[in-house]
Amino acid sequence: MSKSSKKEAGTELSRDKIVSRIYDHIIRQANIDPLFLDCSLDNFDSSILSSQNQKIFKKFYKYVKDISTAMKLPQSVYLYSKYPGIGKTHLAVAALKKAAREIAEEEFKNKETVRQGIFPYHPNWSPVYFLNVSEGLMDIKNDIEGSEKDFSQSQIYQNVKLARLVVLDDIFNEIRFTPFVLETLLYWVDYRLKNNLATIFTSNHNFEIFLDEETTPVTNERLGAVARNTASRVSKMVQGYKLAFDSSPKTDYRRKY
Ligand SMILES: Nc1ncnc2c1ncn2[C@@H]1O[C@H](COP(=O)(O)OP(=O)(O)OP(=O)(O)O)[C@@H](O)[C@H]1O
Ligand SMILES: [Mg+2]
Repeated sequence: MSKSSKKEAGTELSRDKIVSRIYDHIIRQANIDPLFLDCSLDNFDSSILSSQNQKIFKKFYKYVKDISTAMKLPQSVYLYSKYPGIGKTHLAVAALKKAAREIAEEEFKNKETVRQGIFPYHPNWSPVYFLNVSEGLMDIKNDIEGSEKDFSQSQIYQNVKLARLVVLDDIFNEIRFTPFVLETLLYWVDYRLKNNLATIFTSNHNFEIFLDEETTPVTNERLGAVARNTASRVSKMVQGYKLAFDSSPKTDYRRKY
């Protein structure tokens, strides 16, 4: 190996090391359920999908490959299937991990201090964030219970508000639509829409049911309006990217393998 290519190889090695360190930090902070940490596009078997679902998968695949553009635009996505286990959460996590990789590389490219090997990140820095909505809302409640804190001071609450890419997993799947659930969701969605932040939603419910008085499951008039306002913002954010998988009890991957 010549002197210059040796040097290049050395630079590449430290580049990879630094990018990996940033990536690992982002992932540790992303709140991804350990069960889903290995999910990627590479280990998603699309061959088992129906041809209609393969088309939807291809659209999402392209979206993930170009996740930097999606974050810039921003373009949000609604992954929907009536029945569970088709792989929505798997795919959403794959997108989040790709975004983490892109952000780590961007940091290396744009920051000289980072290239010099300095690690200038706050332990709480969470540019990508995963939240299972019902579990996350419960965690926020537990976080503040018995303390003087207002729930908006919870770190989880702030991360969902501010991260460059957020997965809101199982949105609208709640059994009970309480004021806390619906008002928090509206606040997050409204903030992210206004601040041009991309969001990936997964759900077993079509958000459109909340738009119409005839179909909304929220019976209370005021809360029905809160849910409608949320759904109408979601609708705006995911235009062209409402990806509805055809599903049945037979398409549940958990029961197959
Ligand atoms: N096509 C697939 N290839 C590989 N693994 C898959 C595939 N589909 C689903 N899985 C795996 O099956 C499990 C269930 O998938 P996942 O949780 O993503 O489904 P979901 O659509 O989010 O379900 P739910 O509606 O219950 O939230 C996960 O462990 C996931 O990694
Ligand atoms: Mg899921």
